[in-house]
Amino acid sequence: MTPLGIALGMVFYLLQAVSGESGYAENGDFDDAEMDDYSFSCYSQLEVDGSQHLLTCAFDDPDINSTNMEFEICGALLEVDCLSFNKLQGVYLIKTKKFLLIGDSKICVKLGRKSMTCKKMNIVKIVKPEAPFDIRVVYRKGANDFEVTFNTSHLQKKYVKELMHEVAYRQEKSENDWMHMNLSSTKLMLLQRKLQPNAMYEIKVRSIPNTNYFEGFWSEWSPSFHFRTPETNGPESSLSYGPVSLIIRRLWNNCARNQKK
Ligand SMILES: *[C@@H]1O[C@H](CO)[C@@H](O)[C@H](O)[C@H]1NC(C)=O
Ligand SMILES: *[C@@H]1O[C@H](CO)[C@@H](O)[C@H](O)[C@H]1NC(C)=O
Ligand SMILES: *[C@@H]1O[C@H](CO)[C@@H](O)[C@H](O)[C@H]1NC(C)=O
Repeated sequence: MTPLGIALGMVFYLLQAVSGESGYAENGDFDDAEMDDYSFSCYSQLEVDGSQHLLTCAFDDPDINSTNMEFEICGALLEVDCLSFNKLQGVYLIKTKKFLLIGDSKICVKLGRKSMTCKKMNIVKIVKPEAPFDIRVVYRKGANDFEVTFNTSHLQKKYVKELMHEVAYRQEKSENDWMHMNLSSTKLMLLQRKLQPNAMYEIKVRSIPNTNYFEGFWSEWSPSFHFRTPETNGPESSLSYGPVSLIIRRLWNNCARNQKK
């Protein structure tokens, strides 16, 4: 071979080696991804149907081929060692009264008898409350505020009674600009002067467990409620802005009342 031929041959050889190697690396990555694909998440909802609890698990990758895959929970159960999940539209569920609600359980993904992956979980630390409902806003003219109330099924429960609620509201035309407030009761006042007059507002609320014992995740948002703020009409209402004018207004009202007596 000529020196040129040798050089070309070496280049060809190197190219082959590099492309061969990168091909191998791709296959390697692909295999790794497949091995990790069984990761999953779960949440519990206590006393959802009378005294029955619900446990829901799903694969983190929604596109996983879950044909023949089963879920099983063992430990921290009453009367039995293990329970199998039911499969419903790609989600795995158990509805039962048999959770001990003390200590860790082991939740495993199974293919036949083989455990593909397992996670230690404590049912009381993965609680997702039910979404609050019936959120309403009532304008209180005399107080210059809006009374916001809502309801939650957790008021009727024995276990997860204490929740923190997050109320979010926004003017409908300024999309994405949500204002947030945290509270533990199911009632709050929004001051009229914090809202635009004669505007449509949207308001919604969600909940999260708020005790040391029960912990977990945010509920879904409640359905939204829509309300319109009143127009500010004339100088009387514009006086209601700011603490000083509020005091003046109070004094004025008292004065007027005393004169009537
Ligand atoms: C999913 O896996 C099963 C075997 O476990 C196989 O029979 C089926 O064809 C697969 N489905 C898809 C869409 O890959
Ligand atoms: C809250 O909803 C429950 C039904 O889930 C109902 O019994 C109760 O009266 C409601 N409370 C209020 C304050 O509306
Ligand atoms: C409400 O509480 C959550 C969780 O503790 C926190 O992340 C958020 O910043 C709080 N929001 C407000 C407006 O205080």
